[in-house]
Amino acid sequence: MIRERGAGGAAIMPKITILPDTVSGEIESGTNLLKGAEILGIELLHSCGGLAACTTCRIIVKEGHENLSPIKLAEEEVLAETGILHSHRLACQARVFGDVIFERPVWPPGPHSGLTGD
Ligand code: FES
Repeated sequence: MIRERGAGGAAIMPKITILPDTVSGEIESGTNLLKGAEILGIELLHSCGGLAACTTCRIIVKEGHENLSPIKLAEEEVLAETGILHSHRLACQARVFGDVIFERPVWPPGPHSGLTGD
């Protein structure tokens, strides 16, 4: 795992902020945003279990695009198929290496409410 180091060799813990909850916290560099959100007490839907196949973990990055791992082919394909390639990332695929603010979906009650990924 990549660990960024600040002055003096101290590990840098990226800060993520999740909207609309306005929950923030530091997570280990290289952690994906799905796991990072879970660490901070926010469970994102993840019906495929983090395999870049379902898009239920889709997020909108508000700040810090440059602090995320580059999009890979599997993520690009599933976002393109869903028509959200240019507006969203998959939290299960995007690993964080610096501060990021993102908005999670708030699914209405209904068919999505049963998608827990468990
Ligand atoms: S959990 Fe299915 S695409 Fe991320």
